[in-house]
Amino acid sequence: MSRLYNVAVAGATGAVGEELFRILEEQNFPVGELLPLASARSAGEMIEFKGKEYRVEELTEEVFEGRDIDIAFFSAGGSISAKYAKYAVESGAVVIDNTSHFRMDPEVPLVVPEVNPQDIASWRETGIIANPNCSTIQMVLALKPLYDLYGSIKRVDVSTYQATSGAGKSGMEELVRQMQDFFAFKLDQSEHKAFAHQVALNVIPQIDKALENDYTKEEMKMTNETAKIMGADIPVSATCVRVPVLRSHSEAVTVTFEESVVVDVEKSRAALNSFEDVEVMDNLAEGIYPMPVTATDTDITFVGRIRKDIFAENILHMWVVADQVRVGAATNAVRIAQKWIEMEEI
Ligand code: A2P
Repeated sequence: MSRLYNVAVAGATGAVGEELFRILEEQNFPVGELLPLASARSAGEMIEFKGKEYRVEELTEEVFEGRDIDIAFFSAGGSISAKYAKYAVESGAVVIDNTSHFRMDPEVPLVVPEVNPQDIASWRETGIIANPNCSTIQMVLALKPLYDLYGSIKRVDVSTYQATSGAGKSGMEELVRQMQDFFAFKLDQSEHKAFAHQVALNVIPQIDKALENDYTKEEMKMTNETAKIMGADIPVSATCVRVPVLRSHSEAVTVTFEESVVVDVEKSRAALNSFEDVEVMDNLAEGIYPMPVTATDTDITFVGRIRKDIFAENILHMWVVADQVRVGAATNAVRIAQKWIEMEEI
């Protein structure tokens, strides 16, 4: 990497924004100027990056003017991206957007760099590259090596166990507050704002809004985004569930291959383990499998419980766990930026 890049982060005070700064620092990303942006509520707050203090500014239509920003990460919510991403693009920046707003726009590439890095090349159409949904990212990281090994995938059935971090800082705070209220014998009076129901000591079989087909918007994101990223018509049927975990999503994934395929568990393990940023952790007899506490604070997608279906030779089951804030959001965004730089510098 030969030069420095000026970076803006919209949503700098949020769960994903804060993690982005950590990852940019860990990866020694070539940051020149840094512009942290948030709402008027946090304008004036200071954030630290590489030992230097930066003042948070309010995200406005004009804030990008004359700032010469090269890369603008957006993670402040879909409506904010809808309103402000265009001003960053007009000022000459590439926008790497963490929200669902642009993901299914046919002109906007939707990228998991280990799976479809080639799609980044079309970023010039709109100036925007979309970061997929967190549950989709970790699932396609586990599907891609199996797709390559067996030549195709006939369908995928997945149930998710999604952490409260998926609803941002307020989601995590709500779980902690409710647990405190439980120990103070007042959980019945505890407020819930981030989630529609009590999340502590409970599971909620709804993430995002209900759609007319009886699925939720989160479930349809997994269906639609998987096809776009994999560039293949893979039917995905999802059940997305919120669980009282702070951070890191888990998924029980069932993959059905063509009738002629006979699943080989050892070969499947080897293919998964040799895929970039994926690690197999799988020894049931010894109690070894990934869990949210295994994945939290790492950039790895862990796969365990890999097994052949009891009844059909062409079906494989697995358990996939990754840190939602990192792999599912901030790390993927930084990896996109790194690939974008590689392509731009050729
Ligand atoms: P703020 O802290 O000023 O509210 P999370 O996903 O953890 O809930 O974080 C959301 C992020 O999006 C925060 O940085 C938040 O800033 C930012 N944000 C929310 N609303 C706006 C807005 N209207 N304009 C700019 N940033 C916003």
